Amino acid sequence: MKKVITYGTYDLFHQGHYNLLKRAKELGDYLIVGVTTDHFDEARGKLNVIDSTLERVENVRKTGLADKIIIEEYDGQKIEDIQRYGVDIFTVGSDWIGTFDYLNDYCDVVYLERTPNVSSTQLREGRFDLVRMGIVGTGEMGTRLLEGTKYVSGVGVVSAYNPEKENAAVFEREYDIPCITESYEVFLEGVDAVYIASPNETHFAYAKAALENGKHVLCEKPLSFTKNEAESLYSYAKEHNLVLLEAIKTAYCPGFQQLINVAKSGVIGEIRDVEAAFTRIADEDSRERTDAEFGGSFLEFGGYTLLPIFKLLGIDYKDVHFYTMKDENGVDIYTKVYLEYEQAIATAKTGVAVKSEGQLVISGTKGYILAESPWWLTKKFVVRFEDPNKIETYNPVFKGDGLRYEVSEFVSQINGRGKKGYKLTAEEAIAMAEVTEKYMDYKKGSM
Ligand code: CTP
Repeated sequence: MKKVITYGTYDLFHQGHYNLLKRAKELGDYLIVGVTTDHFDEARGKLNVIDSTLERVENVRKTGLADKIIIEEYDGQKIEDIQRYGVDIFTVGSDWIGTFDYLNDYCDVVYLERTPNVSSTQLREGRFDLVRMGIVGTGEMGTRLLEGTKYVSGVGVVSAYNPEKENAAVFEREYDIPCITESYEVFLEGVDAVYIASPNETHFAYAKAALENGKHVLCEKPLSFTKNEAESLYSYAKEHNLVLLEAIKTAYCPGFQQLINVAKSGVIGEIRDVEAAFTRIADEDSRERTDAEFGGSFLEFGGYTLLPIFKLLGIDYKDVHFYTMKDENGVDIYTKVYLEYEQAIATAKTGVAVKSEGQLVISGTKGYILAESPWWLTKKFVVRFEDPNKIETYNPVFKGDGLRYEVSEFVSQINGRGKKGYKLTAEEAIAMAEVTEKYMDYKKGSM
């Protein structure tokens, strides 16, 4: 019996997929089809896949051509599968010519002619209108987001907004994207969605105006300085069927989700402590180190450190305490936040002029998880136990600087692909605003 194997994502199952499977089957007597998992696609940078793994498997099954369907979930699996199932022929479409020649050591490799003029990418793009995105603020984050959008299909940056004419002109020249300076309303008219990366104290007003003009909002942290403001934005967005996301990029990174899932799986027992630290020695003349009111370490990095705490321990903490060190101008250079829970304690540590180990430690009754700097990108984490020889290491795949994952989530939610916003919920974002408000009150009192 001649065994043939082929792999694919098979998103929005189309004629090209059917033809390929049919010809693959004709190469032998028994056809094995490998379908990628959502996580594997996400990790290798194939974002925006619409159908879930189950739906994609089901569509392959319905063709009646596959004798066996398997799941592809990691790099290097193909060699293993070929050996395990005693495969004679590996085949894929001609768009892959050359890529899989290395499998010739294990079986015959056949590239089949690809069906012209149809692909999942094309179908995905045709199914939804392009999301026209506008960037508010043309600083470093704005330009990084521009880069991130290149990896996500269905979205394009069409304009930017910056009331400061000189900066606007520099941005226009460098990126060849019009930058509007006259009025925010005029800018909003030309876009479907905005990414807000302006100074912290302007986030709320820009987000509010964008929502009120019917635009989806991806807003840099902190979204606002009070719980009420955050609540009002989220409830307005919900009522008007608009997407509002706070741009805490860690929340959308594949590795971070995996870390949370491992922590919640019970492998380290009951979680009793979460310690998250994020420090960066910022330039002395940067906004972070010169703006006593809206700069400083907690307002810059607090969102990152609160995220794993709320994800793992929930938002119903019993009490919160702040300890801040200020410089001679009253700027928060180092802050520690303690959150007390019924059954756990947590610390969030941030610095802009104090350097510390930037790690995330999740302590449980059976073991602990350690993610070293930069845990906020979550490229690696380990699970450790009393027995120092027992270590489980995870190396999730991470591409670029992570902004593509946040853009992908934003676009997916806009296109309403049934994906619930579980990666950073409105409740969690509102709870962060509440801690921020308490911190602002504390700072005023302690100044
Ligand atoms: N395929 C094909 N003809 C097409 C499209 C895909 O023969 N017009 C083949 C691919 O070469 C691959 C298999 O179908 O062997 C599964 O491809 P997949 O990557 O899932 O589909 P694409 O439509 O190419 O998806 P995308 O646009 O996301 O890359």
